[in-house]
Amino acid sequence: DRDRPLEGRTALVTSGPTHEPIDPVRYIANRSSGRQGHAIAAALARLGADVTLVSGPVTIPDPAGVTTVHVERAEEMRDAVLSRLPVDMAVMVAAVADWRVATSSDQKIKKQAGDAPAPLILTENPDILKTVGHHVKRPRVVVGFAAETQDIEENALRKLERKGADLIVANDVSPETGIMGGSRNRVKVLSPTGVEAWPDLTKDEVADRLARLIAERLAER
Ligand code: C5P
Repeated sequence: DRDRPLEGRTALVTSGPTHEPIDPVRYIANRSSGRQGHAIAAALARLGADVTLVSGPVTIPDPAGVTTVHVERAEEMRDAVLSRLPVDMAVMVAAVADWRVATSSDQKIKKQAGDAPAPLILTENPDILKTVGHHVKRPRVVVGFAAETQDIEENALRKLERKGADLIVANDVSPETGIMGGSRNRVKVLSPTGVEAWPDLTKDEVADRLARLIAERLAER
């Protein structure tokens, strides 16, 4: 079916930020809204894919026609993703926190008059895209995102290699672009064979184009 080229295919998408707890009431987060990832999950579903979206904490609604799993932390996101392999395609859009607090407290950390503030000791989070890109159950098509504020293409190319991805969608998240949290996006799509610069589009349009591109890739071979 030309309108539903992903009929019978399975997809995993991550979206949104992660929240890394400091204590029961505090966390480390980032400005990701989940808009681009959610739009991609919906676009893949419109093309007929059976889509599971693993979403960090967002304020936007679950997309229609998609199974959405809600998680908070990077480690939960990783577990939710790995437990759903194998799939035909994985699109890792989530802005996963690079670090979590090494020993988050079970109790609220109290402010003691006169004491110095408690230092936060951080430790590295698992890299979900890299894990999926090198997994024995690696999906046929693995797509990553690269949110950068400088040397976008160079960084994205290195990411393609390091993460074991087929495509990297790179965007400039400098505050003046308004991309992070906004409804529009301007991306470059990198594959081992070259770079495509897409025009300024809505996040829904980027999602549609990317879903079509993934469908073409899956139809090859
Ligand atoms: O290395 P960097 O975070 O810039 O890579 C971005 C890409 O890797 C995104 O696709 C993001 O979803 C994914 N990623 C991930 N797990 C991490 C860090 C990034 O899946 N811990």
